[in-house]
Amino acid sequence: MKAAVIPEVNAAWELREVPTPRPGPGEVLIRVHASGICHNDVLATRGIIPFPAFSPAVTGHEPVGEVVEVGAGVTSRKVGDRVGTTWIQGTCGRCDYCALELPVSGQAAFRCAAPAMTGFTVPGGHAEYMVAAASGTVLLPDGLDYELAAPVLCAGYTAWSAFRVGAPRPKERVAVLGIGGLGHLALQFAAAGGFETVAITRSPDKHALARELGADTVVGSGEELLAAGGADVILATGPSYAAATDSMRGLRLGGRIVLAGIDGLEPFTLAPDLARPFFAQRHQVLGATHEGPQYLKEALEVVASGKVTPKVEVFDKTQVAEALDKVAKGEVRFKAVVTY
Ligand SMILES: NC(=O)c1ccc[n+]([C@@H]2O[C@H](COP(=O)([O-])OP(=O)(O)OC[C@H]3O[C@@H](n4cnc5c(N)ncnc54)[C@H](OP(=O)(O)O)[C@@H]3O)[C@@H](O)[C@H]2O)c1
Ligand SMILES: [Zn+2]
Ligand SMILES: [Zn+2]
Repeated sequence: MKAAVIPEVNAAWELREVPTPRPGPGEVLIRVHASGICHNDVLATRGIIPFPAFSPAVTGHEPVGEVVEVGAGVTSRKVGDRVGTTWIQGTCGRCDYCALELPVSGQAAFRCAAPAMTGFTVPGGHAEYMVAAASGTVLLPDGLDYELAAPVLCAGYTAWSAFRVGAPRPKERVAVLGIGGLGHLALQFAAAGGFETVAITRSPDKHALARELGADTVVGSGEELLAAGGADVILATGPSYAAATDSMRGLRLGGRIVLAGIDGLEPFTLAPDLARPFFAQRHQVLGATHEGPQYLKEALEVVASGKVTPKVEVFDKTQVAEALDKVAKGEVRFKAVVTY
């Protein structure tokens, strides 16, 4: 089969012929039709987050496709099922974290002793075929195109989780910081939920696009958010904690900021704002990742309903290196999806 192999840290991806995997007990073989590129694929390629721990290194945790073979003992999935899998396919089942019996979520990446992490500890989805734990797959809603489903498996799942963690109440105003892969979906989720929305973007060329995605107001900074009346919930989806701190200038009394973006370089800080200090406004800082299968299901249903539509740039597998490069440069509007 053909797969997008990362030859080494910081090298361009290469479409190469590699052995087609076979499903073991409890696993399914998926003919991948589409696979989204997450900013974390860029970070893994650069070695900022762990490089895939197997060879050939094939990452990708937004794959969707069709089950073409099931391994021994699999009863929950059948040949012909349309499925996807996510970043965390499963957990070890034996460690102290697993003893808590929580639903499989992004928490497991950091708390389970031996999580199966798609594209990091087990081969990922930027390939024509991949093997996944049957229990780590999700059935896709009927009628949802593969190219629109793929971005939901990480970007949509995370954005929806952040929105649910921020838990805006009726009449509250929701701001989304960073209008990229996660952010353009977070903005649409908030608008589809009936909330007044603000987009916070550093990119002047995204103002009109943000309005098309449902932003009632578009600003460029926390100071501008404050001047525009502020927000009760900020969904911080960009890769900069400094930008998240800045956006808090516009956080209303009792407001919550949800950090879904990952800044692998700089710490998150509270600004020494003596006029509007953190402690005197009952602000909350929350984290969000893939918060559990029920949230993935909800995100897929909202997208399948047509109320929210990922904006995708589709690349053929032969263009995978170009696709990754465009994502790394922040030039994609808004999700790159590779077809295999
Ligand atoms: N929590 C999780 O489980 C999880 C899951 C997936 C991804 N992530 C993280 O989420 C973040 C976004 O991922 P993505 O795939 O959506 O990336 P993306 O498509 O590259 O979008 C990120 C957006 O953030 C803004 N941005 C980029 N660089 C910035 C900077 N230096 N300062 C301020 N804003 C900046 C840009 O929006 P504007 O042009 O509008 O400013 C950009 O479009 C990444 O940090 C990624 O690691 C977290
Ligand atoms: Zn991701
Ligand atoms: Zn465990």
